[in-house]
Amino acid sequence: MSVLAPEGTALLYLASAVCFILALKGLSSPRTARRGNAIGAAGALVAVITVFLSVRLENVPLILAAIAVGSAVAVPVARRVQMTQMPQLVALFNGVGGGAAALVAVLELGHSGDPWVRLAVVFTMLVGAVSFAGSAVTVGKLQELISTRPLLFPGMPVVMVLALAGAITSGVLVILTGSAGWAVVVLVLGLVAGLLLVLPVGGADVPIVISLLNAFTGLAVAASGIVLGNVLLLVAGTLVGASGTILTKVMAAAMGRGVAGIMFGAFRGGSTAGSTVQSDRPVRSSSPEDVAVQLGYAQRVVIVPGYGLAVAQGQHTVAELATALEARGIEVVFAIHPVAGRMPGHMNVLLAEANVPYEALRELEEVNPEFPNTDIVLVVGANDVVNPAAKSTPGAPIYGMPILEVALAGQVVFLKRSMRPGFAGIENELLHDPKTTLLFGDAKDSLTKVLGAVKAL
Ligand code: TAP
Repeated sequence: MSVLAPEGTALLYLASAVCFILALKGLSSPRTARRGNAIGAAGALVAVITVFLSVRLENVPLILAAIAVGSAVAVPVARRVQMTQMPQLVALFNGVGGGAAALVAVLELGHSGDPWVRLAVVFTMLVGAVSFAGSAVTVGKLQELISTRPLLFPGMPVVMVLALAGAITSGVLVILTGSAGWAVVVLVLGLVAGLLLVLPVGGADVPIVISLLNAFTGLAVAASGIVLGNVLLLVAGTLVGASGTILTKVMAAAMGRGVAGIMFGAFRGGSTAGSTVQSDRPVRSSSPEDVAVQLGYAQRVVIVPGYGLAVAQGQHTVAELATALEARGIEVVFAIHPVAGRMPGHMNVLLAEANVPYEALRELEEVNPEFPNTDIVLVVGANDVVNPAAKSTPGAPIYGMPILEVALAGQVVFLKRSMRPGFAGIENELLHDPKTTLLFGDAKDSLTKVLGAVKAL
């Protein structure tokens, strides 16, 4: 006997759906992101409790055990994960979501003979399986368990088309016959298609594929809402599908790429894999004391944070350096490239941790016209986002990506450990420019030394 009347269930589902929409709104700005996250989690909790109160569930102890096991694994993992490993974690959770939707659909197959419901079952199984297998590959690539380079074999596009055609044909047979055997074929071919879809994607594009697979999982969950007759799953899945699609397009645009080019570019030879060989051409290197003098007597300094700042965990030191320079009457701003780091908003999150005020952050379009009036640009652990090859070298993996035009400033100082390239694996001509100096070392160490020298000026 369920505790809740249908009207009560509908109202609680409505409340959850409103929470999910408010969560998305909150997540759209770093200022409100924490609150948005909490509202979304509250909505999910209400949804789960509502299911227990409104549906006559079988196997309740098993369900509770599954929730306990899932929480026991996910909570410590989410607490301990490094900021730089966040994309992997998102991909992992997303893949598991897609896989769960596919499994639920298989189990529901025997419960309805309605061809429309069976169509939703087939869609959920296929898209969920693609998302599960594809996400597993993205985790492998980001953890470097498998090569980050595009993985191709002769005839791969043909095998991919055959797998998809086979999955669709088996799906039609499932709709016509309700056969569990054909359903398994759909699942297996969906997994194969997911693997083949993501293996050819180069490392730098993987976060975009995660966002695309996130949209796929959303669609699979929405379809599972039809299968289970659950309107909240339909709403939540559609929200995830829509927001994942928008995020994918925004990220692709920020990198100057098309989504099709990212997914299938490797087949045309336009992959994102560059070389990881270090350049041995001469560069001008500098000492922390010299950099401190350059910075300490400037009028306007722009700091460009990148992935290396996150690796070095130098956010607090760079914030302190900015404060020390401001105390000397120097104007300091941070230039934020939309794809600096390894996930959307990576630099915003990092600098927010160190309480850098939002007013000191400048977006790409805003800051680019200001570089000619800037004395020094301090590039801290960034590379691709300032690499002029994006404009000058057709065929370069980042060609077409809008960059921070730091070369227009008076001087450029790079803080990095070596001459290794950035994520796209290509040389940066700016490192050899006469106006550039390099301060080699871990970003946090270098920043600490520069900070000490600035204070001693
Ligand atoms: P990268 O081009 O990857 O450059 C990072 C630089 O940091 C490297 O040159 C590295 O040189 C240096 N570095 C690493 N660890 C360091 C440490 N401990 N101390 C000092 N320096 C360190 O980073 P970026 O400029 O932020 O560009 C981001 C890249 O990721 C782009 O290619 C972008 O397309 C890609 N990407 C980003 C996203 C999102 S959404 N953010 C999504 C997909 C792809 P050393 O090894 O010599 O130190």
